[in-house]
Amino acid sequence: LAVPAALSGCSSPVTGKDLRSDIPLPQPFTRALPVPPVLAPTRTDGTTDYYELTAKEGTAEMVPGHRTRIWGYNGIFPGPTIEARSGRRVVVEHRNELPVPTTVHLHGGHTPPDSDGYPTDVLVRAGAELPHPKGHAPMPHDAFSVARGSRTYTYPLKQRAMTLWYHDHRMDFTGPQVYRGLAGFHLVRDDEDDRLPLPRGDREIPLMITDRAFDEDGQLKYPSLDSTLLRESGVENSYMKGVLGDVIMVNGVPWPLLEVSATRYRFRLLNASNARRYELELDPAPPGAPAFTQIGSDGGLLDRPRQHQRIPIAQAERFDLIIDFSRYKVGDEVTLVNKIGEKGTAQVMRFRVVRRATDDSRIPATLSDLGIYDELHGNEDSVARDFKFNGGDPWQINDKVFDVNRIDANPKLGSTEVWKLRTNQHHPVHLHMLQFKLLSRKGKPPRATDAGWKDTLDLFPGEDTLIVARWNGYPGRYVFHCHNLEHEDMAMMANIQVE
Ligand code: C2O
Ligand code: CU
Repeated sequence: LAVPAALSGCSSPVTGKDLRSDIPLPQPFTRALPVPPVLAPTRTDGTTDYYELTAKEGTAEMVPGHRTRIWGYNGIFPGPTIEARSGRRVVVEHRNELPVPTTVHLHGGHTPPDSDGYPTDVLVRAGAELPHPKGHAPMPHDAFSVARGSRTYTYPLKQRAMTLWYHDHRMDFTGPQVYRGLAGFHLVRDDEDDRLPLPRGDREIPLMITDRAFDEDGQLKYPSLDSTLLRESGVENSYMKGVLGDVIMVNGVPWPLLEVSATRYRFRLLNASNARRYELELDPAPPGAPAFTQIGSDGGLLDRPRQHQRIPIAQAERFDLIIDFSRYKVGDEVTLVNKIGEKGTAQVMRFRVVRRATDDSRIPATLSDLGIYDELHGNEDSVARDFKFNGGDPWQINDKVFDVNRIDANPKLGSTEVWKLRTNQHHPVHLHMLQFKLLSRKGKPPRATDAGWKDTLDLFPGEDTLIVARWNGYPGRYVFHCHNLEHEDMAMMANIQVE
């Protein structure tokens, strides 16, 4: 669980508090929002689309006048977007040209275990040695399944349309490696979603929100020592609580600007930050109806739209949102703000309404059929498993640090289980392989923004939360963990063996 500086590749010394950039921060709302390029398949056949991606070093102009070194899929951040069809297989040959091992996880994917990016299924650069991990529970090399040069991931995608994302998941090093840029969108589309008269084309935009800090050379700043070293050196180790930057970026650009027409837009929001959660509002709020119409959650469309004035979004959660800019006047500027941020982190991006335009989009009153969602229920008396997210140094689940060789739960394929999740801190909890339904928080109905299929949940202190899932999918070993990436790297992870 140690992060030797040389391996994490980030250049900064440790700080005991939220990171502060050492260069003047860029002027907000001056640079246009980029949209990640869509990756073209290298070939396709009757059942499958084949892709290639290479994790490598690149540079990005994140702050004006600086070339920031990043690690990105195809050398860019965010990585290219994969656009897939429900039921059509996607095969990605991932290459690694980085000086460190990688592991690729498709977050939200219903993926067999051998392609799910189990943290010790690593891919190393051709010819490179596997560095020996050190930390709380040193692992022998034979705990790793090592591929050299490239590794092929197969995604059946027998799942409905939804916003997925792919990111690094290497044992003990996910935080630093995602921070350096290893994350991209993977959208799954289907006929049900395509048939709806929702905004499309350049009015359907993925937004990946992250926070970062920069050192005096304009390079990414990430604390790179483990807690033992920190304690010995007397440096406060609050970064184990999670690394927070002072610059908010969307699609890799700090506080970008998007010029919009006075029409509806569909935004696929992803919080890809290591440790920051946001509570988003529009400023000024539009007159009349609430700011956002939510049409989808982590696991695709909702049954019907929900209106929200504020969107709380934890790490790795996705929200599929419509903003109707016809409620503003041409010339208006509307800022997406973070109500729980301070100074720079209180702002995310800005929209400028630049023209009127015709809009033939609509938000239907009925969006989607959620399948077995309505059948799933349960209460305190039907809890099959109870998970307590606790600890701190290291982080733990049910008083235990992660152990690759210990199975923490073994649901049966096809079974339905109610789980109770609790904590006295705050943790964004993520389950691999399927989506679940929130039943209750502290015995009360979940919040309005918890609706729909979820794979990540904003778990609050004292809010014992019940979830229910039907274990359809694939047998094998998967992880269940906190998606605060520093908590995950510091052992807040469990093994689920689907039998
Ligand atoms: Cu988004 Cu196990 O991760
Ligand atoms: Cu956590």
